[in-house]
Amino acid sequence: MAIQAPKGTKDLLPQDAYKWQFIEAEWKKICKEYGFKEIRTPMFEATELFNRGIGDTTDVVQKEMYTFEDLGQRSITLKPEGTASAVRAFIEHNLYAETQPTKMFYDIPCFRYEKAQKGRYRQFHQFGIENFGTDSMLADAEIIALGYDFLTRMGVGDIELHISSVGCRNCRPKHREALQDFLRPKYDELCETCKSRFDKNPMRILDCKSDKDRELVKGAPMMLDYLCDDCKQDFEDLKSYLDAMNIKYVVDPTIVRGLDYYTKTAFEFITTKLGSQGTVCGGGRYDHLIEEIGGPDMPGVGFGLGKERLLMLMQECGFDFGEAPAPQLFIAWIGDEAKSYAVMLLHELRSQGISAEIDTKERNFKGQMKFANKTGAAYTAVIGEDEVKSNEITLKNMETGEQTKVKREDLANAL
Ligand code: HAM
Repeated sequence: MAIQAPKGTKDLLPQDAYKWQFIEAEWKKICKEYGFKEIRTPMFEATELFNRGIGDTTDVVQKEMYTFEDLGQRSITLKPEGTASAVRAFIEHNLYAETQPTKMFYDIPCFRYEKAQKGRYRQFHQFGIENFGTDSMLADAEIIALGYDFLTRMGVGDIELHISSVGCRNCRPKHREALQDFLRPKYDELCETCKSRFDKNPMRILDCKSDKDRELVKGAPMMLDYLCDDCKQDFEDLKSYLDAMNIKYVVDPTIVRGLDYYTKTAFEFITTKLGSQGTVCGGGRYDHLIEEIGGPDMPGVGFGLGKERLLMLMQECGFDFGEAPAPQLFIAWIGDEAKSYAVMLLHELRSQGISAEIDTKERNFKGQMKFANKTGAAYTAVIGEDEVKSNEITLKNMETGEQTKVKREDLANAL
């Protein structure tokens, strides 16, 4: 049997690549406008980074990491997300010693061994941004605003923004206790994973994917009702900044992010148009992650946005990506002398930045013209004896059929 791509992965074919290139260019553009600079980190990291960063009771760490031992017996993990790596680099290169905040963005592949389905892959791709070094809710609002503006530009601005607060080290213990009291009578009915989380991290039980456990946690005490004064004030500040920017949101106390590093702000952009994998973008604040990974006590906030889900949603909303890019000019030839001339012209135009194409299969003239149509070239030029002698080329507009004669040296300008 022919070898196929691994389960949960997808090939990006040349005819679709331009859509990805479009969102990638727009992503870079908006990040620049908002003052974020790009960071590129390795595709794999020491496993320890994710165990420490993401939390050892999360699904990602317990069940989903692509971990292997390399030939030097080091435990290596393919990046399941981008934040931990950005933090690791921030610490390793002493970026914390510079004037803060540090605002970074990235565009990365991520790897999670999840149950593959529509909108959920084992290799997926994320846009992400992070702001390190400020505990002001202005930073959270800025991050959310960037996500909102980007999604609006991508034609999917009617997506719902859900916000919540998952509290801090001061107020979480109270909620944890209340949650354990609520779950204790149901303990025996919980799945094995949730049982193991009961003592260590009961909040994770609220994120269990099993239908039975989801039913069991209905009516559980919500963190939002247990916030301390400081967290309450921060949440009020965040809402007031979003209101000032006229960004609509829903306060959703049920948000449980799948990673453990969050404190205070948690948010998700959710759509109903993609079925069960409707979270296109998710993020929040993480005030202790930098310290936990070995850096100074510095806060951070950011989000990750799934590129596959974004593209699916854009498609669903009828976004017009335009046509796949086609050459500006196709050059056909009749006869050997004309062929050499055509090759020279092709090279000359390409070196002037014109996208020009020729038939490298050397079909006969009829075949070349058929191929020219296939390429979708805007113009064609036919090189024959006359053109070689006169140095004058006839450009045919493939849409209107209109023909114009242009001197060879004016060709690039005319195109
Ligand atoms: P996350 O919620 O795990 O957060 O992932 C962010 C986004 O990545 C999701 O909203 C979704 O669009 C996409 N995504 C996640 N898993 C898959 C998958 N298996 N297949 C397709 N798309 C997927 C993070 O990764 C955090 N690092 C975000 C963050 C940055 N928080 C603060 N800073």
